[in-house]
Amino acid sequence: MSNFPKNFLWGGATAANQYEGGFDEDGKTLSVMDILPDEAHGRKQAMKHPLETMKKKYDFYPNRVSIDGYHHWEEDLELLAGMGFNIYRMSVSWPRIFPKANMDKPNEDGLKFYDKVIKKANELGMQVLITIDHFDTPMWAVEEFNGWADRRMIDEYLKLAKVLFTRYKDQVKYWITFNEINMLLHYPLFGAGLDLTGDPNPKQTQYQAAHYQLVASAKAVTMGHKINPNFMIGSMIAGICNYAYTPYPQDVLQKQKVMRESYFFPDVQARGYYPRYAKKFFEDNNIKLDITDDDLEALKDTVDYVSFSYYSSGVITTDKRLLGNTASSNFASTFSDSVINPYLKASDWGWIIDPVGLRITMNDMYDRYQKPLMVVENGLGAIDHVTDDGKIHDDYRIKYHKEHLEQMGLAIRDGVECLGYTMWGPIDLVSVSTGEMSKRYGFIYVDRDNDGNGTNKRLKKDSYYWYKKAVESNGDDL
Ligand code: BG6
Repeated sequence: MSNFPKNFLWGGATAANQYEGGFDEDGKTLSVMDILPDEAHGRKQAMKHPLETMKKKYDFYPNRVSIDGYHHWEEDLELLAGMGFNIYRMSVSWPRIFPKANMDKPNEDGLKFYDKVIKKANELGMQVLITIDHFDTPMWAVEEFNGWADRRMIDEYLKLAKVLFTRYKDQVKYWITFNEINMLLHYPLFGAGLDLTGDPNPKQTQYQAAHYQLVASAKAVTMGHKINPNFMIGSMIAGICNYAYTPYPQDVLQKQKVMRESYFFPDVQARGYYPRYAKKFFEDNNIKLDITDDDLEALKDTVDYVSFSYYSSGVITTDKRLLGNTASSNFASTFSDSVINPYLKASDWGWIIDPVGLRITMNDMYDRYQKPLMVVENGLGAIDHVTDDGKIHDDYRIKYHKEHLEQMGLAIRDGVECLGYTMWGPIDLVSVSTGEMSKRYGFIYVDRDNDGNGTNKRLKKDSYYWYKKAVESNGDDL
């Protein structure tokens, strides 16, 4: 018997900056992703100093074309619907809708693209979940405001939210205000359009940006519910399950500290106020934030559901001698120093694979917030090989999803309320962290390489047929 409830939402997730391309079409201007080269040409360094990066000229910008979804969207939606998706999580490109700061009206030509996509998805039987901002801060915001370090971004964001809420109020029910809002602490450019070059107190700037985003998110919730009371508007963090390396109490305490850095965001979004530990943290770190009474009032409006991505787990230690035992590409080391877990294997990119960690995370999050959850990203970035007859035998990806879905089912049986699962990257996309195409997550293969060569032809992998079966059986036949 399936552990998944009737009406469970089954689907996949993409993001405009990694999918669309069409970077200068129909009035779109640049977003933070469009200025970055690929990994081989210094993506990591370039994202640290975006204003300097802007002046440079690279031979290739992977996100400017991505997988050319701007011209393949119809075929792609049909492929997604072919797996039986009843939900498709997508995001919009902010600078496609508002190509400049302080615009009164949105760019109609940009919006027409989303009109077509949403209409077609609905016709194919898929609900659409819109992430309003998925790592898509416009470059105008970086150049004119230093991104979310400036309070004016709240109004700019609310303008975008209002256009989307009103235009799609009868077609879209599920929304996420910010993708992985906690990432702004680790990837300040992606998360908040920040250039921290020469900043004497980067933590102050990052938490100020976080505050403005939290206010914008809460105000969007209030606004959205006025436009359509049936909207389900959610928060989202990059989820991570951390273990203490030993039972040494200092390790456990450190693990708790690291987890709080991420929980801080949904703690505010789901409870409606700043946790006491955060106020203490600000004091201890000389962080003095611009927070008004009106902001605190706004924060009281909480989200309808709590969502997160889940890829990997980490191991926390306070033993400095062990810290050499880290994998630099390990996902967990984005958040803190994390040592290798001797019990678990890693992906081709060093991300620890831990299905049970998903069950733990779901239980922890549900215990903490008592709001419905949604797992809105989960997947395996791997190297795929196309056989001579055009097949992709990705049994490793099937195994990854099967094991994670089994653990999700068990979490639901434990008592967790979970609305749905939108796995990451149902179609191969440009990787956020590396700009590579070779880090493939999809059930659908895209013929395109790291340098942008290829036909962009789409091919169904073995996992495509496996997921179709999983969806059809409502998670019974995994
Ligand atoms: C999440 C992001 O952090 O992880 C996605 O929301 C991203 O945008 C995904 O693509 C996987 O990361 P990467 O770097 O492998 O693309």
